[in-house]
Amino acid sequence: MKKVYLETFGCQMNVSDSERVATSLSSRGFELTPNEESADIVLLNTCSVREKAEHKLYARVGRIRNSGREKPVIGVMGCVAQLEGETLFKKIAGVDFVIGTKAVGRVKEAIDRVLKGDRDVADLGEREPNYDWSVADAQRNSPYVAFVPIIEGCNKFCTYCIVPFSRGREISLAASEIVRQVLELRRQGVKEVHLIGQNVNSYRPISDSGLEKFRGATPFSKLLRAVAATGIERIKFNTSFPRDFHADIVEAINENENLCNWVHLPVQSGSDRVLKAMRRGHAIENYTKKIDNLRASKRNISLTTDIIVGFPGETGEDFEETVKVVEYCGYDAAYIFKYSPRPGTPAFEMADDVTADEKTERFLRLEAVQRERQNKNLQRYLNKTLQVLTEKPSSRGVGQLSGHSTCHKVVNFQGTADMLGKIVNAKISEIKANSLFGEVAETR
Ligand code: 5AD
Ligand code: SF4
Repeated sequence: MKKVYLETFGCQMNVSDSERVATSLSSRGFELTPNEESADIVLLNTCSVREKAEHKLYARVGRIRNSGREKPVIGVMGCVAQLEGETLFKKIAGVDFVIGTKAVGRVKEAIDRVLKGDRDVADLGEREPNYDWSVADAQRNSPYVAFVPIIEGCNKFCTYCIVPFSRGREISLAASEIVRQVLELRRQGVKEVHLIGQNVNSYRPISDSGLEKFRGATPFSKLLRAVAATGIERIKFNTSFPRDFHADIVEAINENENLCNWVHLPVQSGSDRVLKAMRRGHAIENYTKKIDNLRASKRNISLTTDIIVGFPGETGEDFEETVKVVEYCGYDAAYIFKYSPRPGTPAFEMADDVTADEKTERFLRLEAVQRERQNKNLQRYLNKTLQVLTEKPSSRGVGQLSGHSTCHKVVNFQGTADMLGKIVNAKISEIKANSLFGEVAETR
């Protein structure tokens, strides 16, 4: 049996694709191995959102080639594969096959061709009509947490972003199919599902079949209610797009305990001028109104965000606006990125005029502001009891377990192996920079 080592970079959509590729390969005569050295085939699932991720791929393939052992078959999938296509064969020596983002159902066919002796095998084709969305239990990161894609691609064309090019136009999956999957996952013992997509709240299926009886102004809030009605223990969703984030989503969360109290709402910048240049489709005033509405919920909703510093033309004043927004919104976590020009995007044509030093300075300053704000923020969890899904033993020592709260914070605690997969009530006794520490009060 040929062994496949699969490595994943990038966002939750890539993680989800990898889970499905692993499922399909293991049911079709391959063995997935966590050990790269023993693999006959190394498959790299790539990300191209920032330049660094792409550089990593070049370096990564070089390391495999020069590792001193017989070279394995090397395949590239994900966003770099989709964007670069066959040019990858010229750019990186040693790549044997390339699989685009819609072709992930046909990895086996590509491997078979390479093993037969074909060279430079590329498949950038569309999804097959009977594409299999299922993921085997064994191929998920956690047996208790499952990713369920609800919308693929992106129509937003934010000027800095490569995703609309690497993942194509938005396609929403049928609600009835999503609900069927969640019911099946629940039956298998999954406790938490993540409804995922580049912009989940832009969800717009071709027909509303399966959603007719649910309330809400937007198909997404109806879908949330439909998934909540499956009775699965916990439902999280990400990422949300600010312009399409309507009050009916908060209402659905308020009315359904199993819709978790965490919203990831990328603001990207605090300056209206920069947001316009980014073509984000939201201004700061309407964004902060949405934040106010989320804050008004009784559910103590945790907010997280993404921010880009050093977008072309961002002045010191623009940046100060971003600092202000971070202070105002009180995020529980913020992912801060330095702007990275992506060929093919509209922003690539703009002068990348914020110097590297300025980008670093702004990055560090914003990070410090967020850290301080976050520390203050997280104090609200001290001595509070959070419901934590026990996911795995933590690397911190014997008897240490780790999981996520409903508000998606990592919580570490002392416990016993029988707690794995169970939801425990943990009283938070210590706040760390990126995690919480709790004492188990009760296992449910
Ligand atoms: N440069 C820097 N950050 C980017 N992101 C997307 N494109 C770029 C880019 N060209 C960030 C955004 C997005 C997150 C996933 O990555 O903040 O929300
Ligand atoms: Fe990229 Fe904007 Fe689409 Fe998000 S919404 S994937 S940032 S284009």
